[in-house]
Amino acid sequence: MSVRHRAFSGVQPTGRLHLGNYLGALKPWVTHQDARENIFCVVDLHALTVPEAVDPRQLAAGSRQIAALFLAAGIDPERSSVFIQSHVREHSELAWVLNCVTPLGWLERMTQFKAKSEGRDSVGTGLLDYPVLQAADILLYDTDVVPVGEDQKQHIELARDVALRFNHLFGEVLKPPAISLPPVGARVMGLDDPTVKMSKSIGESRPNHLVGMLDDPKRIRKVLMKAVTDSGCAYAPEVASPGVVNLMGILSALTSEPVDSVAARFEGRGYGYLKAEVADAVVAELEPVQARYARFMDDPAELDAVLKRSTDRVRGIAGAT
Ligand code: AMP
Ligand code: TRP
Repeated sequence: MSVRHRAFSGVQPTGRLHLGNYLGALKPWVTHQDARENIFCVVDLHALTVPEAVDPRQLAAGSRQIAALFLAAGIDPERSSVFIQSHVREHSELAWVLNCVTPLGWLERMTQFKAKSEGRDSVGTGLLDYPVLQAADILLYDTDVVPVGEDQKQHIELARDVALRFNHLFGEVLKPPAISLPPVGARVMGLDDPTVKMSKSIGESRPNHLVGMLDDPKRIRKVLMKAVTDSGCAYAPEVASPGVVNLMGILSALTSEPVDSVAARFEGRGYGYLKAEVADAVVAELEPVQARYARFMDDPAELDAVLKRSTDRVRGIAGAT
């Protein structure tokens, strides 16, 4: 009998999920669903690290919505577990134990911590400790691979280092995980500024920054047609501008057509043709996801049953660790 690798990944229930989350995380999870044993988590405790951004009355509902989006994207609860982090108390318990073996300097070096704390007079300890809780999420389940977008690379390396350090001190207990990045779509850039990563927080103040997974087709087309490119007409990946490279990457991630082939097809044509084709592909991909999402939202009992079954399943593994 072959032993399947176990995958674990998580998404924070803050803000609206966007095309970057979909192409960097959710879609690759679905693609590899059969090849692995999968555990997918809505990490509500991580959302608390920026308390100003959390409405406590909204957090539980928002977490359910993200779980419903996982399922709508194609995660099959028969083959994968989908649950909410705070419902399994071992995440917090292991985080404490790992805190005690994690040198402070490792956390102070994290680029996400530096970016999120920059320019602020005071930040919560949780923000600094965020990667240790993430390490606990991963290490609780003897995870082999963590499928995420490129921005998580440093956090997964830290989880590995924490596991190795723990094992060095106490014997072989924790499995050091590996990262799994999608070949394209691992770093989707902002549509209004292709030099920065597409992100939920920027999207809150800049309407043309992102395409939300639940945006209606009209809005999706409008935002993509406005995507920033350049005044020329160059597609070859070595010379194309960042906005054009980003749009070709999005198309390639959705259709599996290699970027070189996309570039060759559009050579000599205006960017409007590329934008229109990207918009068609995004709408075609997201419309069925949105329809399934609406069905889960209409049937709270079904979603509750899925979450309960998964929670019971993963508690068994987490409790043993
Ligand atoms: P977050 O929204 O930060 O909770 O991220 C959830 C997942 O989406 C993680 O695996 C991220 O690496 C991934 N992700 C977030 N933004 C992007 C992006 N712009 N491009 C690709 N993947 C992303
Ligand atoms: N830090 C991740 C993000 O913002 C979310 C996350 C928390 C995660 N725990 C995890 C991702 C464990 C993978 C595995 O995207």
